[in-house]
Amino acid sequence: MSVAASAAGAAYIVAALLFILSLAGLSKHTTSRRGVTFGIAGMAIALVATVWLVASGSWGEPSAALGLTLLVVAVIVGGAIGLWRARVVEMTGMPELIALLHSFVGLAAVLVGWNGALYDNGLTGALRDIHHGEVFIGVFIGGVTFTGSIVAFLKLSGRMASKPLMLPGKNALNLGALIAFVALTVWYIAAPSLGLLIAVTALAFALGWHLVASIGGGDMPVVVSMLNSYSGWAAAAAGFLLNNDLLIVTGALVGSSGAYLSYIMCQAMNRSFLSVIAGGFGIEAPRADAEEQGVHREIDAAGVAELLRTARSVVITPGYGMAVAQAQYPVADLTQRLRERGVEVRFGIHPVAGRLPGHMNVLLAEARVPYDIVLELDEINDDFASTDVVLVIGANDTVNPAAATDPTSPIAGMPVLHVWDAADVVVFKRSMASGYAGVANPLFWRENTQMLFGDAKQRVEDILRAL
Ligand code: TAP
Repeated sequence: MSVAASAAGAAYIVAALLFILSLAGLSKHTTSRRGVTFGIAGMAIALVATVWLVASGSWGEPSAALGLTLLVVAVIVGGAIGLWRARVVEMTGMPELIALLHSFVGLAAVLVGWNGALYDNGLTGALRDIHHGEVFIGVFIGGVTFTGSIVAFLKLSGRMASKPLMLPGKNALNLGALIAFVALTVWYIAAPSLGLLIAVTALAFALGWHLVASIGGGDMPVVVSMLNSYSGWAAAAAGFLLNNDLLIVTGALVGSSGAYLSYIMCQAMNRSFLSVIAGGFGIEAPRADAEEQGVHREIDAAGVAELLRTARSVVITPGYGMAVAQAQYPVADLTQRLRERGVEVRFGIHPVAGRLPGHMNVLLAEARVPYDIVLELDEINDDFASTDVVLVIGANDTVNPAAATDPTSPIAGMPVLHVWDAADVVVFKRSMASGYAGVANPLFWRENTQMLFGDAKQRVEDILRAL
């Protein structure tokens, strides 16, 4: 092994350790900055080591000069596009950007797999068989991740309907695809051919598409973190093919942490983990959206100011609409104003409020709302009964009583904030439209609920003026 290769191997171990420290740091608010710094340091070391490896010609063909030129061009083009997208993306557009990025990891794994199939480096015997197995596994995981992530991107960006695709016998189709994959792998190891490689690629693309298309809007957050996990396993598979230890370790870290996050989210949403990773296995098609369920009452900003003037305890439950309206700043002002008057103000945060985990916490922290009044669903749910006023600001699915009371609802069983237990509930939204999961919300027609229509930011500013 050349000096460059052994030095790079050592650098990769250091980078892998830094990535593990980074994940450990990111698990807590207080250590998250340190976690990010470890991650950046690990990535910088890995990049320098890789560039050095290429420049020293340790990778053989192509020549060092050509290899370095290709690498620099790829980094400049990829880096420029990445920087531009990350700068312009709105916080609310993060999940779809992440989904799109996962699709690139999947595609890269497919291309690495194909490359491995076309150049098997003259391996023979068992090593050659193992190599062929790796090619198939890499192409398959990469292909599923690629099309699955594209469907997730299309659904999250509203370019494709969020309701689940219900093909007849969909579970049998998914299971059949897995059996076909195993059979094709065995066949390929015995007698490799281009036709089989094309077949497994097409099969993986179709399965990825079908798995994610079969999952309804309410379960999309879990899907994004599941695809994150798949993209990690795809990278690890590519690492085996490229003989790159760092890629194997990093891929395994992303794969396992993504799987764990999906598991935690499934628990938080009372969903079966297996059912979600198996493409909505056991999930029934949702019924058509329910009709208007009565007469709703409206209130204006002055009316809400009046309610708040006499309230002693207020809970604010923000959702995606607060993020879209960028209402967190006036909401923080309102909180401060009420607290100055001696009103107890707290926030109730649902685990999937908004469009990515922790979305609301980040927005509220940005607007300098104190951490200690921002509570999780479990911490606040029993307190609604003793709350005077709940302000539901741009939230919908996360405060839907149907989840708790209607077993036929597509979101049945998902824990929700029991805002309706409070004396008065004010719902801030622009219309009577349903939320992300496309399910009607009976909260709007309850006797203690009043609707404040309009853009959340403007309405909160109106309330501040009226106060
Ligand atoms: P949603 O159920 O999506 O409801 C948001 C509400 O905000 C809508 O009903 C909308 O009603 C209102 N709204 C939109 N723009 C507004 C504006 N400018 N001013 C005032 N209101 C506005 O939100 P949620 O309660 O936060 O629930 C989150 C949903 O997203 C869940 O179904 C969850 O599963 C899903 N999801 C979550 C994630 C993660 S990880 N958090 C990721 C992907 C999907 P109008 O149109 O009538 O205004």
